Amino acid sequence: MEENKPKDLKNLVYKVGDVTDLKKLYPDETFDVIVDKGTYDAIATDERESTIKMCQAYFNEAIRTLKNKDGVFIIVSLLQPHVLKMLFDFFVLENDVNLYQKTNLFQVKVLKIENIEGYAEKQFLKYFVAIKKNFIDVSNPKMVDMRAKLQDSVGIKDSALEKEEFYSYTQAIEKIKVDQQIFMIAPTIKLLDPGRQIEMHCFDYKSKDN
Ligand SMILES: C[S@@+](CC[C@H](N)C(=O)[O-])C[C@H]1O[C@@H](n2cnc3c(N)ncnc32)[C@H](O)[C@@H]1O
Repeated sequence: MEENKPKDLKNLVYKVGDVTDLKKLYPDETFDVIVDKGTYDAIATDERESTIKMCQAYFNEAIRTLKNKDGVFIIVSLLQPHVLKMLFDFFVLENDVNLYQKTNLFQVKVLKIENIEGYAEKQFLKYFVAIKKNFIDVSNPKMVDMRAKLQDSVGIKDSALEKEEFYSYTQAIEKIKVDQQIFMIAPTIKLLDPGRQIEMHCFDYKSKDN
């Protein structure tokens, strides 16, 4: 790995470790920014309890090693429904599994990545999720109150929007899901003859009611 180091990045240091336990490699508050491209998607394979626990251990390690003031954790993800839920359950909802939630404000922003010309994976939308960590003084009631007010707020932005819009946990999950569905369906509909009438049957394949 070292021999492949770009010549203009001589200070780059490679370390190999398990993202769910980095204690021997990195002390608390080591990084200004952590970038994950594909690792969270790779470990968030399903909704089994052991998988959820592994993802929570990873998130806790990422937060621990991030700087307390304005540390940013960036995740590049396809945000499949269970991946999105696990992420938002951890960072947006009040919970006991995020070891740092009570003492920090986590601001979550989601940016849709526009499709890159010629890129192979055209059928899925890709996102940057940026989570900013800021330590709060829990002895100050104003800060605790501010944290409670701001926590359930997710900023979403794409190139069609002039500025970021803010959503609650439930609204943000719904908005991302609908955007993904439109992205998958729209190209197929565009290919149909303009004059042709089509019928769409929408159903929930998991439900017995329809
Ligand atoms: C989809 S690949 C992405 C690789 C690279 N970031 C890229 O974009 O080409 C997922 C990566 O996550 C790494 N990974 C999976 N579980 C891990 C763990 N517990 N700790 C550290 N890395 C892990 C794998 O070794 C693999 O390199």
